[in-house]
Amino acid sequence: AVLILLGPPGAGKGTQARKLEQDFGLVQLSTGDLLRAAVAAGTAAGLQAKAVMEAGGLVSDEIVLAILKDRMAAPDTGRGVILDGFPRTAGQAGALDALLAGSGQRVTAAISMEVEDAPMIARVAGRYTCASCGEGYHDEFRQPAKAGVCDRCGGTAFRRRSDDNAETAGARLAAYHAQTAPLIAYYEGRGLLHRVDAMRGIDEVAQALSGIVSRVS
Ligand code: AP5
Ligand code: ZN
Repeated sequence: AVLILLGPPGAGKGTQARKLEQDFGLVQLSTGDLLRAAVAAGTAAGLQAKAVMEAGGLVSDEIVLAILKDRMAAPDTGRGVILDGFPRTAGQAGALDALLAGSGQRVTAAISMEVEDAPMIARVAGRYTCASCGEGYHDEFRQPAKAGVCDRCGGTAFRRRSDDNAETAGARLAAYHAQTAPLIAYYEGRGLLHRVDAMRGIDEVAQALSGIVSRVS
């Protein structure tokens, strides 16, 4: 299966993709994570992406597609993938279709995580993750069961993203509306779109997503 999670910053794509990975054995593939890894590694693509990401804009299709193709070529993706934060432009959506067609595959479903703009800034600004396993937390909405200790791996170091401030989050939201939201109609027109109310709590959203994934895969 090839599942797409569409939604603005803070909609919960990463949170839910990690749950689906655990529950359905799918591979989470986040272009945001891959780009942050490229930035940390100081690759040529990472150096170009860094400033764009810090300003809250979209990295060029060329760089994103090169990174995605590379990752899709790894054998574990044969189990099925959840694309988290990709595609984000019409060009990326077309390139994904072509890439999948090359191996006799197609998009199974695109799930739009529907949220309101204003609360999303708060979700993004309060977010932090475990430095060892990447599990996501939030100052207000999702703290570890034991303060300062990761629920998933027991790690005690956490970090925040440099683009998780109110100003950059606003720019990311604007980029979503201008360039990514039109993909909802693209997948709807092909009968592949499912909508989920992602303003609800994490567990309720997870249940709704599990229902969809069970039905389509
Ligand atoms: P990326 O890493 O993809 O960031 P994003 O899309 O802005 O999404 P986020 O990671 O901010 O949000 P999320 O929906 O995953 O929410 P999360 O689950 O963490 O991209 C970063 C940058 O990389 C982009 O700005 C761009 O520059 C570049 N980039 C990446 N992909 C690209 C592409 N394809 N093309 C071009 N450029 C690209 O949840 C957020 C917080 O809320 C968490 O703390 C969580 O615990 C909490 N939370 C989650 N769900 C709920 C809930 N239901 N109720 C309450 N709290 C919740
Ligand atoms: Zn952890």
